[in-house]
Amino acid sequence: MSEVIWGLGTSHVPSIGAAMDRGMTAEPVWAPLFEGYRPAREWLADHTPDVAVLIYNDHANGVDLDIVPTFGIGTADRYTVADEGFGKRPVPDVLGHPELSFHLLQQLVDEGFDLTVFGELDVDHGFTVPLSVWTPDPGDAWPCPVIPIMVNVIRYPQPTAARCYALGQALGRALASFPEDITVGVLGTGGMSHQLAGTRAGFINPTFDHMFLDAIQHDPQKLAAMTREDYIREAGSEGIELIMWLVMRGAMNAEITKVHSAYHVPASNTAAGLALFDNRAPVAAG
Ligand code: DHB
Ligand code: FE
Repeated sequence: MSEVIWGLGTSHVPSIGAAMDRGMTAEPVWAPLFEGYRPAREWLADHTPDVAVLIYNDHANGVDLDIVPTFGIGTADRYTVADEGFGKRPVPDVLGHPELSFHLLQQLVDEGFDLTVFGELDVDHGFTVPLSVWTPDPGDAWPCPVIPIMVNVIRYPQPTAARCYALGQALGRALASFPEDITVGVLGTGGMSHQLAGTRAGFINPTFDHMFLDAIQHDPQKLAAMTREDYIREAGSEGIELIMWLVMRGAMNAEITKVHSAYHVPASNTAAGLALFDNRAPVAAG
C-alpha cells in the first residue's frame, strides 16, 4: 500500500513564481513571504516522497474555457509547462506516474467520482507555483513524479466543499489500496481569500483565513459543511479555490500534526497561506 506522509496546502499566486524566476525573493516586498516558507521547505527537503498528488485548478490555460471538467486526473508520463502569455516559466516539465494515475482513476470511478481523464495536459501557475513553493531550486527535475487532480473552481457551479472532502477521502482509500509500498505527498492548492474582479476586487479576509488554517487541521467537517456561496462571500470569488485544500485533507488521517504554517498579506491581490502537515502517527515521547 502507499502511505501519505505529508499534506501541503499552499496558495498558487502567479507573481510568487515570477518573483522566484526573476531573482526577486530577497527584495523587501517579497522577503517576508519567502521567509515564511523557509521552515516548511527545509522539512520537505528531508521528506521527499516517492510520488506526489497535486490537487489544483487550471485557469483556462491547459483546457479551453468551453470545456470545464468538474474533476479530472492526469494519466500522462510527462506534463508540459503552459505558456500563459508571457512565455513558459523556466522550470522543468513535470514527470507523471501513469501506473498510479490509472489505479487512482479506477478506484475513484468505482467509488462514484467520474473523473475526466487527461492523457496530455499543459499545467499552469495553479500547478507550477505550488511546486516552486515546495522546491525553490528544482534544477533539471522536480523531486518526484507528480499526478495532477483537477478541480473546477473557476466556473459556476463549482463542486461543493463536501464533495471535495469526500473525493479526498476516496483518494486516501485509493492510495492505500495501491499494491506497491510507496510514500506519497498530497498538495491542496489555491486560495486564500482573494477576489480579482468586480466591485469587491482586492477583497481579503484575514479573520476567515485564520479560521480556515486552524479548521483544516482540527475541524475539516466544518469547512466541508460550508456552501460555495459561503466561500465566495467569506473568501472572495477566487477564494473558493480553498475547497481544493479539502481534497488534500480528506486523503489524510483524522489526526495530523502541523509542521509549519505561514500567512502573508498580500501577494499580488491575494492572501498567501501555507500549511504543512505530517500525516504519520506521532512517535510517543520518551
Ligand atoms: C492572482 C491569484 C490567483 O489565484 C490567480 O489564479 C491569478 C492571480 C493574483 O493575486 O494576482
Ligand atoms: Fe488562482
